Amino acid sequence: MKTLVIGNGGREHAIAKALSRDPDVEAVHAAPGNPGIGAVATVHDVDPLDGEAVATLAHRLEVDLVVVGPEAPLVAGVADAVRAAGIACFGPSKAAARIEGSKAFAKDVMAAAEIPTALARVCESAGEAGDALDTFGPPYVVKDDGLAAGKGVVVTSDRAAAQAHAAGCERVVVEEYLDGPEVSLFGFSDGTTVLPLLPAQDFKRLLDGGHGPNTGGMGAYAPLPWAPEGLVEEVNDRVLRPAVGELARRGTPFVGLLYAGLALTSRGVRVVEFNARFGDPETQVLLELLDTPLGPVLHAAAAGRLDDVERLRWKSGAAVAVVMASAGYPDSPRKGDAISGVEAAEVLHDVHVLHAGTALGPVGLATAGGRVLAVTGLGDSVQQARDRAYEGVRLIDFAGHQFRRDIAVAVG
Ligand code: AMP
Ligand code: GLY
Repeated sequence: MKTLVIGNGGREHAIAKALSRDPDVEAVHAAPGNPGIGAVATVHDVDPLDGEAVATLAHRLEVDLVVVGPEAPLVAGVADAVRAAGIACFGPSKAAARIEGSKAFAKDVMAAAEIPTALARVCESAGEAGDALDTFGPPYVVKDDGLAAGKGVVVTSDRAAAQAHAAGCERVVVEEYLDGPEVSLFGFSDGTTVLPLLPAQDFKRLLDGGHGPNTGGMGAYAPLPWAPEGLVEEVNDRVLRPAVGELARRGTPFVGLLYAGLALTSRGVRVVEFNARFGDPETQVLLELLDTPLGPVLHAAAAGRLDDVERLRWKSGAAVAVVMASAGYPDSPRKGDAISGVEAAEVLHDVHVLHAGTALGPVGLATAGGRVLAVTGLGDSVQQARDRAYEGVRLIDFAGHQFRRDIAVAVG
């Protein structure tokens, strides 16, 4: 099988790497890629948001499968363009990707399919938002309706700050606060059948202890030793399968990876959000642990044949990813800082460095985005995996780098 991975983040590096070690996969191409992806795939310079250009490249490379990684191309309809060209694509249509692209749409799907989630109100004026804030009370949760790379959500006990965030957005969702630890649970979907992965946890806030602004994710680990027994089955039955069923019923089947962001509240499991693609950095840990070859699973999902795939097999042990972010992230990430130590970290036993915002420039490897690297450790236990990840982090340096020191230490 020949494959093409669209995107240039850590998630796409993890996907390309997993495909590159899959005996069923004879070629891995990527566009636009990054220097890390370039080590495991042939990279091509294509605008990932241009569906026609992606389809043309896929055709020219004679690939059997295109995997679209990030949300922006999915929401822009890149998977539709690839499928229209007669090429199998792992990634939902523009219509199905609205489950991530619009929080209001996601709430509508959840209501129709009776999926447990926070009570919410869609507001289009300051007055409506103010009423909703008073109805739900503090802590206040205000979400920009559109795509915002994990940065459109404000959770605060300061009513004025909540109201100000609402005023800065055209349409917001105001909702009740959900307590309890968060879990990310993904399912492969072919439009009908869902194959769940292992639960993982992402650390969304910038600073230790869950302080500071929300980010795209500062670290992740899996499996979760504290997860309640039966969690995967419960979420598959109450969340993933009903969502996939509802989208199929609407004539917009979801083919790709459905990401359920969950809160395990005192009143039970609630959906915080859906995403229409692999999570980042959860994918970096999950694909290190996945023992089943990835290519045939993605291809079966794209071809509507997930029924034929056996239960996923996982390696024993654990994986922990620590994100190293650039100076100024998340507000104004600085580019162009020289990065050292990646090679030294990679020769450590069971340490893998996955690239996101990196580029090769005059100074060699340099920062080129917010989240720069995900340093991933594998081990027999979460503790050992974590120690290895941080051993790698210690060897890597760039000016102003930021990372959390408590990934996989505490819950949350
Ligand atoms: P979202 O983009 O909807 O995933 O929100 C980003 C982050 O904000 C989530 O991962 C949570 O940490 C937090 N968050 C979102 N919705 C809620 C909620 N209803 N209650 C508490 N925290 C929330
Ligand atoms: N890790 C959060 C996300 O991928 O949205």
